[in-house]
Parts: sequence; C-alpha cells; structure tokens
Amino acid sequence: MSDQHQLERIAAEIKTCTKCPLYKTRKNAVPGEGPINALLMFIGEAPGAKEDELGRPFVGRSGEILVELLESICLTREEVFITSILKSRPPKNRTPSYSEIAACLPYLESQMAVIRPKIVVLLGGVAISSIIGPWPVKEAHGKFYEGGDFTFFMTYHPAAALRFPRIKEVMQADFQVLRN
Ligand code: URA
Repeated sequence: MSDQHQLERIAAEIKTCTKCPLYKTRKNAVPGEGPINALLMFIGEAPGAKEDELGRPFVGRSGEILVELLESICLTREEVFITSILKSRPPKNRTPSYSEIAACLPYLESQMAVIRPKIVVLLGGVAISSIIGPWPVKEAHGKFYEGGDFTFFMTYHPAAALRFPRIKEVMQADFQVLRN
C-alpha cells in the first residue's frame, strides 16, 4: 500500500472512531491535513468549534495565527501537515483528559510514522506533555528535542498568542529559530 493510501486509511478510521466518548458530541472528527511528504508536522491540542464544524484542523482564529506564523518563515499551510493530539472536539473546548489522549495517540503515531517529517512542532502544553512528558512550555519553547525517530520543536499554542500579545512575540522568535 502506498504511503498516501495509508494516510488516507488512517484518516478514514479517525472519521468513524468510537474509542472515546467524544464521538457522541462531535460533529466531525478532524484527522488533519497536509502533504504526505511534508517536512514539518504541526501538532495542536484538539479541534475547536470551527474545526468540529468543518472537519479541518486550525481553521478558526488559532489557525489564522498559525498561518501568519508560517508565512513569517516563508511557508504556507498547504506545505506542512497540521493536526492535533485529539481528533475530536472536547465539549466547550475543555482540556483533553488523560484517557482521551491515550485513546487518540495511536492515530498520531501512525500519521507520524507514515509522513516521517523532518521536524515535529509541538504547539502548547498538551502536545508537549502528551508526546514528550511534563515540561512547562515556558521552559521548553524555542528548543529542539531528539526523541526516538523524531526531532521535536516546542512552542506555545497559537491560542495563547491570541490572548497575550507578548506570547505572540515569543512565538514569532521561536519560528525564526525553526526556520534557521
Ligand atoms: N486548536 C488546536 O489545537 N487544533 C485545532 O485544530 C484547532 C485549534
């Protein structure tokens, strides 16, 4: 089976997944999107209202910030793979539970194994703690981390930049590190 076909199979599985109770409240699962040969993979926390509505990742206000940050390093969203730790929206955007993360993580691991990105960018505390372990974003941001078969890069979640202009500046500086 080709890599592209494998990626599509993972997405199809995610769309009908019932491994955690979030399938009961979501409108659409959000597998993620981007090219199979993406060099960069961005991982957020979980779909929000707009993502749930459309079945696409980062299409709300956080997505606008992410696109702006990508453009600041001469990339478009079409060139990178974008997804999240959870593929289904938690009600009222509450923080993902440990059991939801545990149920969903195998999908992300399969996506990473097929795409084999050069760098996996972890956006925010939930992505960092789910994949690497407890490490406050405040300390981890702007750093690379070698883990298993992957190189990770850590920064804040774009939603934090929406709330705090200072964090947007920090993210802009982190993205310059990523570009270099
Ligand atoms: N925030 C995320 O973490 N993921 C999305 O897809 C949208 C917002």
